Amino acid sequence: MYFKKIALNNISAILRNLRKIGIEELSFLRRITNDFLVFFVSKSVVIYNSRGGNTEKVASSIAEGLGSEAVSSDQIPDLSDYDLIVVGTWVAGGKPSGGGKEYLSKFNSEQLKDKKVVLFFTAGGVDHSPNASDNIKKTMEQVFAEMEELVKDKAEVVEERLAIRGAFRLFRFGSGMFSRGHPNEEELQQAKEFGESLKKYL
Ligand SMILES: Cc1cc2nc3c(=O)[nH]c(=O)nc-3n(C[C@H](O)[C@H](O)[C@H](O)COP(=O)(O)O)c2cc1C
Repeated sequence: MYFKKIALNNISAILRNLRKIGIEELSFLRRITNDFLVFFVSKSVVIYNSRGGNTEKVASSIAEGLGSEAVSSDQIPDLSDYDLIVVGTWVAGGKPSGGGKEYLSKFNSEQLKDKKVVLFFTAGGVDHSPNASDNIKKTMEQVFAEMEELVKDKAEVVEERLAIRGAFRLFRFGSGMFSRGHPNEEELQQAKEFGESLKKYL
């Protein structure tokens, strides 16, 4: 009887306090619950093939936004553990790099069954400005098309994709011959926001 009374008092106190919670607190609660679910229940991974570090940086920013981890293409985990797989590569000669194509083509179709895949790449010539040449636009589309071709029969490739400019380094050191300073802070922020936007697939 005594315990029942305490329990009832506590429940009515909780209800009284719940009524005091405003819209702001409710949306905060919803957000942290969502982040909790994304982190512990649905899983995502960002895989990258990078020669000079640009693609790795972009992968890390996407992973930060998505609340997942970025792993190099030579350390690919068992993909059956993930719901969303973000795949990235750098571009060489207007195509996904050899290493990028190699890891995408080796994906195990059993492990990718019913999974969603998101594509991204970095390249020296990426230009999203309205005055980008048709040639650049066409090359960017072709890189995505080639990446998609390698995975489309194994998984569902989602519409959202990301191309980020990366400093062109002939050697693996130095700041680059073209597109110096890229990806810059703004582009890494863009990659992070891209990662955040992908949470809807989890
Ligand atoms: C050998 C080589 C070939 C490249 N070819 C192209 C190209 O055809 N088009 C382009 O836009 N960028 C090209 N780039 C630039 C890279 O795609 C760009 O610097 C990329 O961000 C490198 O990524 P990473 O630092 O992750 O290796 C090339 C770079 C190298 C080293």
